[in-house]
Amino acid sequence: MVSMMDKEILEGLSYNEKRLLLAMDAAGGVSTPEELIGKGAFTLEVEVMGSASWLSTKGLMQIDEEQSIFYVLADEEVAKTGLAERRAIEIIDKAGGRMDMSALADAMPNGEDKIAVGWLKRKGLADIVKDGDSKILTLTDLGKATLSKRMPDEEVIDELAKGPVAKGRFDEKIIKDLKGRQGMVAEDIRVKRTLRITDLGKEAIASGIELKEEVAQVTDNLIQSGKWKDVDFRKYDVQTFAPAFYPAKKHPLSRLGAEVRKLYTDMGFTEFDGEYVEPAFWDLDVLFVPQDHPARELQDTFYLSNPKKFDLSSYEDLVQMVKKIHENGGDTGSTGWGGKWSREMAEQAMLRTHTTVNTITYISKHPEAPAKVFSLSRIFRKESIDATHLPEFTQIEGIVIDENANFDMLISLIKEFYSKMGFDQIRIRPAYFPYTEPSLEFEVFFNGKWMELGGAGIFRPEVVAPFGVKCPVLAWGFGFERLAMLKWNIKDIRDLYISDIDDLKKNPTF
Ligand code: PHE
Repeated sequence: MVSMMDKEILEGLSYNEKRLLLAMDAAGGVSTPEELIGKGAFTLEVEVMGSASWLSTKGLMQIDEEQSIFYVLADEEVAKTGLAERRAIEIIDKAGGRMDMSALADAMPNGEDKIAVGWLKRKGLADIVKDGDSKILTLTDLGKATLSKRMPDEEVIDELAKGPVAKGRFDEKIIKDLKGRQGMVAEDIRVKRTLRITDLGKEAIASGIELKEEVAQVTDNLIQSGKWKDVDFRKYDVQTFAPAFYPAKKHPLSRLGAEVRKLYTDMGFTEFDGEYVEPAFWDLDVLFVPQDHPARELQDTFYLSNPKKFDLSSYEDLVQMVKKIHENGGDTGSTGWGGKWSREMAEQAMLRTHTTVNTITYISKHPEAPAKVFSLSRIFRKESIDATHLPEFTQIEGIVIDENANFDMLISLIKEFYSKMGFDQIRIRPAYFPYTEPSLEFEVFFNGKWMELGGAGIFRPEVVAPFGVKCPVLAWGFGFERLAMLKWNIKDIRDLYISDIDDLKKNPTF
């Protein structure tokens, strides 16, 4: 009689579990996965073991595991080249049974002679006698006899070269020596599993198991042929254990970069980029950054020693114009910064400190309105590395050159970008940049606090006048990594670049 509980178990059995129970019954109640596969009942060990472990949790099967140690030849090379002392006795024999140790060193490269001599002595295959400054190796009687017969450790190597051998067959001392010889021989621990049907399992089999084909996937053929009436459908259990599967994917920063690019191009922008190395002239002077501005100081900017400076004479007119703008405003209506503008300072080669340098070189080549361009590129500042700073980071920068452009448009563009990125709360406050007027900084509300993201403004006439730009140029630049931190709630900027492969694989946000 099958109890109520057993009936429940019986009905819950999957097709494979039933199949395994029947195959085990046919095998007399005890079997191994290998035997079952050998008999053709199953094709894969995982298939057997998957069903077996389910049956075991249901109390119908018992799985016994027994570990056994096998020895394997880890150094396959030695099977071909032979042991160093074998090669040494052959070399010494060819030399007449006697040989200078330095001559053996010449005959055996890579310091193998030292290994050989150690074992020649230890195995008593050769004697070493001092002769003045040199040492002479002479084959012993055992050494000579060994020329025509295999040594016990060589026999072990020969055996293992054919395949793994279970522990117990060889002298453990020989194995220990071979393991010590840079791991020539290694252990392979194998688990032998035996499956046994329990009393409950026997009861279940006795009560009759109906093996009905189980279908995991519905096909049109199954429906059309009417075959669906005769089959069982496999129950879908989302809680079933399954091996983790990690498909290939792009680095999160690459994906976010692609998202930013898509957003801008959707808004009608085109991408541009420029050089990492620029003269201070373009990174700072053209942008009307005064020559005594703190951004010029060594602690903020990476100045280069090779190239140390740039020759600006190929655009001498512009250099003269910028000099005047700095000293007295030139024709721009500004009074400039006053003082003397230094050409040497402007010639200095440096790593760009902002992508605004590329914006202005872009404008110098394409001053025409209307234009909407953006860049997403790396910049460099002499920052000490900490949780929120890196000396290399990425800026998202954009400009709009348009007759109708104005401050409201600038704010709504920034707001639109961030809201598309998923941040709805943005706060604007007045700021200062030497190249824009008005200037603003914006912050995003995240995790209960306001975080600064970047700056923006409308380029001053001192900046755009040399290129003949008459209409307003809206410009903004903000941190790409900051955006990533906000998006994924990352507290430490360094985590973005450490690229812990395990975290990248398993962290669902990445
Ligand atoms: N260049 C500024 C920075 O690096 C950002 C900015 C760009 C500000 C354009 C105004 C206009 O912080």
